[in-house]
Amino acid sequence: MTKVLIIDDEIEMAQNCLRLLKPLGVKTMLATSAKQGLELVQTEKPDIVLTDLMMPEMNGLQVLAAVKEWDAEVPVIMITGFGTVNSAVEAIKGGAYDFITKPFSGEQLRVTVERALNQRKLKEENARLKRQLEALSFSEIVGRSSALLKTFELVKKVAPMDTNVLIVGDSGTGKELIARSIHQHSRRSQQPFVPVDCAALSEELLESELFGHERGAFTGAAGTKLGLLEVADGGTLFLDEMGELSTKLQVKLLRVLQEKTFRHVGGTKQIEVDVRFVSATNRDLIAAIKDKTFREEIYYRLNGLAIMLPPLRTRTGDIPLLAKHFLEQFNARNGQTIKLSREVLHFLESYAWPGNVRELKNVIERAAILAEEGTIGCQDLPPEITGDSAEPVKEGQSFTWANAGSVQRFSEAKERWIEIFERRYLIELLRRHHWNISKAAGAAGINRKTIQRLLAKYHLGRE
Ligand SMILES: Nc1ncnc2c1ncn2[C@@H]1O[C@H](COP(=O)(O)OP(=O)(O)OP(=O)(O)O)[C@@H](O)[C@H]1O
Ligand SMILES: [Mg+2]
Repeated sequence: MTKVLIIDDEIEMAQNCLRLLKPLGVKTMLATSAKQGLELVQTEKPDIVLTDLMMPEMNGLQVLAAVKEWDAEVPVIMITGFGTVNSAVEAIKGGAYDFITKPFSGEQLRVTVERALNQRKLKEENARLKRQLEALSFSEIVGRSSALLKTFELVKKVAPMDTNVLIVGDSGTGKELIARSIHQHSRRSQQPFVPVDCAALSEELLESELFGHERGAFTGAAGTKLGLLEVADGGTLFLDEMGELSTKLQVKLLRVLQEKTFRHVGGTKQIEVDVRFVSATNRDLIAAIKDKTFREEIYYRLNGLAIMLPPLRTRTGDIPLLAKHFLEQFNARNGQTIKLSREVLHFLESYAWPGNVRELKNVIERAAILAEEGTIGCQDLPPEITGDSAEPVKEGQSFTWANAGSVQRFSEAKERWIEIFERRYLIELLRRHHWNISKAAGAAGINRKTIQRLLAKYHLGRE
């Protein structure tokens, strides 16, 4: 129900307003001092505030400023006396929605209040539609590989349910992005999404972050603090790096998962919460369960459904899309129009990306800064991508473009260097002929089939 708060030190005037607003069918509340009024603003969260301009202690303009600071969206209507037009103008400048001059009729008051309420509803509706629109697409998640499309399908299916979801993937594969998108596609989307990094804090700090604490619960606990579990009430709690939770916190969290209640550190009151858990990990938790560092019950509670995010190297087709996406972002931010050369795309596609999408994003941003003449070229890529570095290759590690410069045995090395030159020659040849295979073959005096075979050998074919 819509709540209207009236602040006026003249009780008769205030009661008169109450009576006049009755036909609107709104809930009215009355405060006879600015202080009491501001308390009600915080506890009752009225949809609209009517305040007298002239009051002892604190005048209407100060009330206006305080209300706006608390919630800028609440419309404030100023009630002004005869001859205070200047202050009324000041009130409008200070963000008041409107003013109404005493004496006024019931009709005048009701029209002003209704107009403010309608405007507020309109604003809220717009904000809601905008959020819904954003939530209904995966527009910020780039990729068309079948692996990612499958992930979208899973997200769409699981998001509207209240199932807890575990997202498993290597560092930088987009776990947090997917977690946010699950929240956005859920019926909790209007409620908070609260991320907690379980690896970033000590056990004590994480405990008080998650569960909150009472004043004096431990040294340094100066006041009562809400736990993130409460902050996320009605919404989604994102437990990032969930595999790093200590055994003690696992046990405490298990209780929350089972009973949906918890207590502040140092507190006795049971607090009820309704939270959906989305967790992320890059650890093999099954192994952790086997060696007893992770509790099986909590794993199964958090893992209502698992979403696996594959490493970037297994979805090569997404690389050019992502690279272009990050470059567009960079260009938009910096008002530039930098482009990617085709050759660069091929290097990007054949690199292993141990840091996954995050690494790709960093590489693109760095290259865009280095780029000369508006195009990113090979010289703007780090050596590990162009194969110019000499990282030692470990025993059993497979030969890749990235570690080509560091193979140990000579015969092996020779063969691989030939491959490197062959590959480089091929890229250069095709680049000169704008990737037209017939022209390139003609110029090099070899047939098209040879080029096609080499393209396949070096994974240079398009998807
Ligand atoms: N498919 C994608 N489309 C667009 N941006 C992406 C995609 N995947 C990841 N990113 C971007 O890459 C970066 C890393 O993603 P994110 O933080 O979600 O990864 P993460 O798996 O949580 O990584 P970590 O394990 O290191 O915390 C972010 O800037 C994110 O926006
Ligand atoms: Mg993350």
